Amino acid sequence: MTSPLTALAGLISSGVQTLESAYAKEGLSFPSLDQPFSPGPLDKDPDVAATTRLIVAAAHQIIATVRAPMDTIQDYAPAMYMSATLGLAVDVNVADVLKDAGTQGLHVHDIGEKVDIDEVKLARVLRYLATRHVFKEVTPNVFSNNRISSVLVKAHPLEQLKTDKLTKYEDAPAAAFVGHCTDEALASSAFLAEYIHEAPADVDAPFNLALKTPSKLWNWYEEPGNEWRGRRFNAAMKGGGEHFPSTLFTEGYDWKSLKPGSTVVDVGGSVGTVTILLHKAYPHLKYILQDLEPVIGDAKKFWDAQSPKSITDGSVTLQAQDFFQPQTVKNADVYFLRLILHDWPDSANVKILKNIRAVAAPSTKLIIFDSIMPHACPEPGGPPPPPFPLLANLGLPIGGFLTMMDMQMLNIINGQERTLNQFVELGAVTGWKLDGVKPGILAALVFSPA
Ligand SMILES: C[S@@+](CC[C@H](N)C(=O)[O-])C[C@H]1O[C@@H](n2cnc3c(N)ncnc32)[C@H](O)[C@@H]1O
Repeated sequence: MTSPLTALAGLISSGVQTLESAYAKEGLSFPSLDQPFSPGPLDKDPDVAATTRLIVAAAHQIIATVRAPMDTIQDYAPAMYMSATLGLAVDVNVADVLKDAGTQGLHVHDIGEKVDIDEVKLARVLRYLATRHVFKEVTPNVFSNNRISSVLVKAHPLEQLKTDKLTKYEDAPAAAFVGHCTDEALASSAFLAEYIHEAPADVDAPFNLALKTPSKLWNWYEEPGNEWRGRRFNAAMKGGGEHFPSTLFTEGYDWKSLKPGSTVVDVGGSVGTVTILLHKAYPHLKYILQDLEPVIGDAKKFWDAQSPKSITDGSVTLQAQDFFQPQTVKNADVYFLRLILHDWPDSANVKILKNIRAVAAPSTKLIIFDSIMPHACPEPGGPPPPPFPLLANLGLPIGGFLTMMDMQMLNIINGQERTLNQFVELGAVTGWKLDGVKPGILAALVFSPA
């Protein structure tokens, strides 16, 4: 039988061949790590993405297999230096300074002058990052952007980035994600263990211990001095949301089967990013978009700009509705919630789902669009396993991302990414039974009244 090491090496080798021939077919060579990122025709190709996931999973597992255990521990335990150095580089706009320097880069003395940082310390920070393939040390103390660091370049000129925190992260989703993770989330993570061990029951999340606030993250963002962090968080979320293929939602349920005029309620729908996709694909349905009052104010602006007619002709209604209060739209054909349940602990989700169940007709469907957390081991009745000897959740590229999200949810808002069984149990205690699941990076879980 093939050894795990040989099997992993085989996955990497055959995956690389597949990638290179896919690029060759387009007349391209595989992008170099040394060049800034530029969009290419295969960036969103599903076959290329699947092959890339296998290579990454196998490469990560082969490192864990061959490396001495203590060396791996010495890599993992001080992982906070990755967050801290990356956070600093983004905060002081290093990638932005290097944007025009090209592949020959800039001496750290010049970078330091432009970003107002001591050049010796900056060189140490950038060398830490360049050693992990973020930035490149071209010649001693001369650094350039590479494929990874180039995505951290923000959308505004350096002077504006330095002087206007409110707009600093606008249209810069990677930088915004780094900023959020390495600022309030990094500070909160130092309290994760204390929170799990011994936090009093009235402490919501590690965030509250770290930031010494009883406020929920969203309310904290509205407090004086934090607005720019709120804007940064929204910029990061907007970028994350744009990665979802629209078919996850338009094909996540058999919307065509609904009779003309059927009512679809987007519960906690923000400005209506999903509703607008559904409305375009299925104009025969009536949509009600619900969120908190201030968000519905933003939603009005969004629909005025995107599709004012949908509001005036009554096919889309915008409605302020707190999902912890009794649901005012009764007997709708579909209520759906995208990325809502993962924001909350079970106790809150029970209230949200019971409020919908209380007004559901026997034929009503509840659709949850959320990630399903896979176990790291095979599950009875689960999907076919990935190639030997990869972890059942594929390790780094899938399980790694979802477990990171799960920690992030716990850390900042006491939310949770849930396993399929946990969704089923949540349904069972709120009067919903699972009809079926359409898998995907966000799954569509369809429930009926039990
Ligand atoms: C992670 S966002 C998801 C938004 C939207 N479903 C989407 O996927 O684009 C969570 C949403 O829940 C809304 N929300 C938070 N608390 C709420 C409440 N008590 N009632 C209604 N909506 C609420 C927020 O305003 C925000 O729009």
